[in-house]
Amino acid sequence: MKITFYGHASLGIEVGGKHILVDPFITGNPKAAAVDINTIKADYILLTHAHGDHVLDVEAIAKRTNATIVSNAEITSYYAQRELNAHPMNHGGSWNFDFGKVRYVNAIHSSSFPDGTYGGNPGGFVIESEHKNIYIAGDTALTFDMKLIPLRTKLDLAILPIGNNFTMDVEDAIIASDFVECDKILGYHFDTFGYIEINHEDAIRKFFDKGKDLMLLEIGESIEL
Ligand code: NI
Ligand code: MN
Repeated sequence: MKITFYGHASLGIEVGGKHILVDPFITGNPKAAAVDINTIKADYILLTHAHGDHVLDVEAIAKRTNATIVSNAEITSYYAQRELNAHPMNHGGSWNFDFGKVRYVNAIHSSSFPDGTYGGNPGGFVIESEHKNIYIAGDTALTFDMKLIPLRTKLDLAILPIGNNFTMDVEDAIIASDFVECDKILGYHFDTFGYIEINHEDAIRKFFDKGKDLMLLEIGESIEL
């Protein structure tokens, strides 16, 4: 499993011979100017919630790639009305896709589209594939519901928001990593806007002091699991 950070909360995942794109917000992010959405491959686009900083580039990429959009039922019906391919899910449900199993899990946040359309309730994803399991938290507060995840899935990586203001901060993300029982963390949803700027060294040290490994990738950088 290869994971590429496209900035903010945007991720590319290559697994099982498929390309999965998560929460594409690239053309609106000046820090991601080097990423060209016209060359990003996508068989699936997973959306945690409907906020603009997670869905900005969905229509352009889905039209070009014919990707299947996977999210809650409200978000997928929004895109299905726009003639895009969509697979609806809802909280607690999972589905075996051709690249692996995806579960849509709870997040505490909000989820309206930029045009005001109701975007259902926000979520995160647990992906199980190629003997590697990851949790993509989406935008969320710390919540006890995270403790449910390791009851079903032993995680190899937890992707957690750490930018504060709109989501968990570093301290809450450390507790979240305890709740999901995973000591390998990829931080995201930081630095994009003034509200969520963080001190990288400070964040890495705080995780390190709890025996945990926080990775912060450069935009365009990848890791292999
Ligand atoms: Ni949001
Ligand atoms: Mn966000």
